[in-house]
Amino acid sequence: MLIRKPAGIRYSEITPPGVYWSRRRFLAVAPASLILAGQAQAGAKLNGVIQSPFSTSEKQTPYKDVTSYNNFYEFGTGKEQPAELARNLKTVPWTISVEGAVAKPKVFDLDAVMKMAPLEERIYRLRCVEGWSMVVPWIGFPLNALIRQVEPLSKAKFVAFQSLHDTRQMPAAKWAGIPLPYVEGLRMDEALHPLAILCVGLYGEVLPNQNGAPVRLVVPWKYGFKSIKSIVKIRFVEKQPPTTWNLSNAREYGFYSNVNPEVDHPRWSQASERRLGEFFKRKTLLFNGYGDQVAQLYAGMDLRKHY
Ligand code: MTE
Repeated sequence: MLIRKPAGIRYSEITPPGVYWSRRRFLAVAPASLILAGQAQAGAKLNGVIQSPFSTSEKQTPYKDVTSYNNFYEFGTGKEQPAELARNLKTVPWTISVEGAVAKPKVFDLDAVMKMAPLEERIYRLRCVEGWSMVVPWIGFPLNALIRQVEPLSKAKFVAFQSLHDTRQMPAAKWAGIPLPYVEGLRMDEALHPLAILCVGLYGEVLPNQNGAPVRLVVPWKYGFKSIKSIVKIRFVEKQPPTTWNLSNAREYGFYSNVNPEVDHPRWSQASERRLGEFFKRKTLLFNGYGDQVAQLYAGMDLRKHY
């Protein structure tokens, strides 16, 4: 078993309270001051990050592969293009508008996002629908920390996310071949799940632009395309929201997109995957190996139908 902490246990329950709260205070200040100093540039170190017990101990994918083999269609459809074409993306200042069916809608600046919860290193597997995978030390905090701040109304059943779409900064977006702005969605209980994080960094550093700076989602039990990058809007809604790849090709990409070796993509098998930097393929695991934590979210659902 790779995940050490059972879902549902709070950090305050495993860390002695004194240590937990003093850590919280320290962490609430450190990354924020970094941003205020205007140093939120890719490559800047993030200080005071806690190690998460949710992390896998598997071998990490080399930094170079994680940051030079990307999918970010707004910056080109080639894997090497985002590292080059997103270089000058302006990520400061940045705001995320959180709106819709909530008691307290709010526009958060980056400073507020960095202060939302203690930053944690979460070493997660991420499986791309194309058949490659990686293990990345992401830095972020549970999405549910943001959700709690805006107090969703009971009619909020889904969360819709939207990426930046700025044709001036993203000239290659014209040839993306998918509808933009990039949009994604989660069911409310998925969004509240402690494994779903808002990510602001990787490998101890501020998130590189090509990986979705300044804030992206990471949902490790779903195919990589659910992990939307460079988020500018989060909207709480009553109905299942549209998602970019489903709009682009509904037969090939469903709303749920849980990693499932038994449901093939119409054009290729999903039974195995290749880790970036490795030669041999390995078997793909249901829910990308996070089944113990997330399978109960889908109890009673036909996962062939809800792919
Ligand atoms: N988010 C936006 N805005 N645009 C994109 O093209 N690609 C998705 C996802 N998020 C994408 C996006 C896909 S297909 C994958 S596999 C992951 O980002 C890749 O994340 P990475 O480049 O950090 O590995």
